[in-house]
Amino acid sequence: MAKIIDGKAFAAEIKEEIRAEIERDNLSVGLAVIIVGDDPAGKIYVKNKKNDCVECGVQSFEYALPGYISQEELLELIEELNEDARVNGILVQQPLPEHINVTTVNETISAFKDVDAFRADAAGRVMFGDYDFMPCTPEGIMEMLRKEGISVEGKECVVVGRSDIVGKPLAMMLLNANATITVCHSKTLNLSGVTRRADLLFSAVGKAGFITADMVKDGAVVVDVGINRDCEGKLCGDVKFGEVAEKASYITPVPGGVGPMTRAILMKNTLTAKKLQS
Ligand code: GUN
Repeated sequence: MAKIIDGKAFAAEIKEEIRAEIERDNLSVGLAVIIVGDDPAGKIYVKNKKNDCVECGVQSFEYALPGYISQEELLELIEELNEDARVNGILVQQPLPEHINVTTVNETISAFKDVDAFRADAAGRVMFGDYDFMPCTPEGIMEMLRKEGISVEGKECVVVGRSDIVGKPLAMMLLNANATITVCHSKTLNLSGVTRRADLLFSAVGKAGFITADMVKDGAVVVDVGINRDCEGKLCGDVKFGEVAEKASYITPVPGGVGPMTRAILMKNTLTAKKLQS
């Protein structure tokens, strides 16, 4: 039976360090979060981020915009926030409505306030392993593994999902940590043949029940990045938790695994932004 990795507890440690530093140095730190439309998952993230801000002593500025807002109006708001000295970090929740170009939005955020590390220059620096802002979910995963004492060096790591915000940067960070990496996606042939090779298996697909026990090697470490609803409407990941936990050595739960770590790294990046701007 796998050990369950307690992402919530690790995240609490990180947030406490941030809170203590903000208090010790009497810093005023602010994060602006913009959500466009009413994606239910996005709303949950934003609510949780607000709570993290309160816990860390970070001031939260929230902008809930209707789904029909024009790209120009959104860019104007970002430009205002770029100039606002109270705001150290700017996050635009993804996904965005189709009429809004996500690259244009990301590139409009000031490089000093890009706490998601979604701009092309920040994403490029991830390749070199040399950056101020860490992509939140991949860094949250790497930090969780470090805290749990799991090394990736030399191991066969399989990432399922190739999104710009999780799969691709995670693969690069694993490579920087000397893992052997394979990235799978919807066109991968013989997916379970590949996933069964994994010493560490990362799933960032966004489909409930996608990773089943027959896709997992005995003793593998399984990291579930998915945030989905099951048929009863309950929050769940990509991994069939019960059956995979029987086979794995370690597994992350949903909720309480990767999600809290992502948000803890966001708080860390917001504090980094404050320091860069001071
Ligand atoms: N949507 C899902 N995860 C994230 C994230 O880490 N940042 C942003 N901006 N949107 C997301």
